[in-house]
Amino acid sequence: MSTPTLDGLNQARSNRAELPASNGPVLGDADFRFLREFVLQHCGIALGEHKRQLVQGRLLRRLRALGLTEFGSYCERLRSDPEGEMGDLASAISTNVTSFFREVHHYDFVADTLLPQWLQSKRDGGRLRLWSAGCSTGEEPYALAMVLAEVLEKHGSTLDTRILATDLSPQALAVAREGVYSLERMGGVSRERQRRWFLRGEGSFDGLARIHPRLRELVSIQPLNLLHDWPMQGPFDAIFCRNVVIYFDQPTKQKLFRRYAGMLVPGGYLFLGHSESMHGLSDDFELIGRTIYRKRGA
Ligand SMILES: C[S@@+](CC[C@H](N)C(=O)[O-])C[C@H]1O[C@@H](n2cnc3c(N)ncnc32)[C@H](O)[C@@H]1O
Repeated sequence: MSTPTLDGLNQARSNRAELPASNGPVLGDADFRFLREFVLQHCGIALGEHKRQLVQGRLLRRLRALGLTEFGSYCERLRSDPEGEMGDLASAISTNVTSFFREVHHYDFVADTLLPQWLQSKRDGGRLRLWSAGCSTGEEPYALAMVLAEVLEKHGSTLDTRILATDLSPQALAVAREGVYSLERMGGVSRERQRRWFLRGEGSFDGLARIHPRLRELVSIQPLNLLHDWPMQGPFDAIFCRNVVIYFDQPTKQKLFRRYAGMLVPGGYLFLGHSESMHGLSDDFELIGRTIYRKRGA
């Protein structure tokens, strides 16, 4: 295994640890109100009044990193450079929790139902495009890449296949790009897949493994705020937006589902997380499985 730099991994790990909110600046009413509005407007995340302690605790680390001693100064920074600070703010307040093959029934559905269908319909060549929207540290797109690579190889398919993986959080994307994971976090990956798709670290990298270059090739990792303009054209055959919209308010979800419909081929698929639903929010899709939606019209 080549020498990996683990800055991204360490950063994401430490990102998860929350600081006690007791020793440090206090988040006052006006600053909390501003932060709630800002986060709702720019990240789509609806923070309830009861989240003040949580926000204060999570933002303390960011304040310290910036050398700031008051939340007021941080709010000023957001006002003067909203784009520049957005990713770090989102990283601090939202959760990046993810794992390989999380909600495994979705991967089974791709392997057993969708890939045979796609291989049939695209057998004369063509492109297969998937999007992991809110990919966090990369486990979701890489697990998809494993499934795709295995099935395509088994059928000797040369289908032009790519997975776009996007997220708002620069820290999470740094880990995804690095593609180095702790073996402890591979509970969802079978021994066979661990052998096949990871390069084990040795010496000081013992306990770590790097994702196989073949999977890295299939996955394109890009920063993207889902609430902003999307530079890509699409269309996609399937979009995975799992455990992302859970924090969004209803109008934001409604608008996002409409935009996803516009990005999918007719009959394309949208996967949501286990506690997310499109119920009452979109007529563009029909529910065809456990949090699996199909775009109408094919
Ligand atoms: C809990 S993780 C989900 C990761 C993966 N999809 C899964 O299900 O395991 C949620 C991710 O959504 C990202 N996210 C939240 N709001 C976003 C937004 N407005 N635009 C893009 N990504 C966003 C967060 O940065 C975080 O990495």
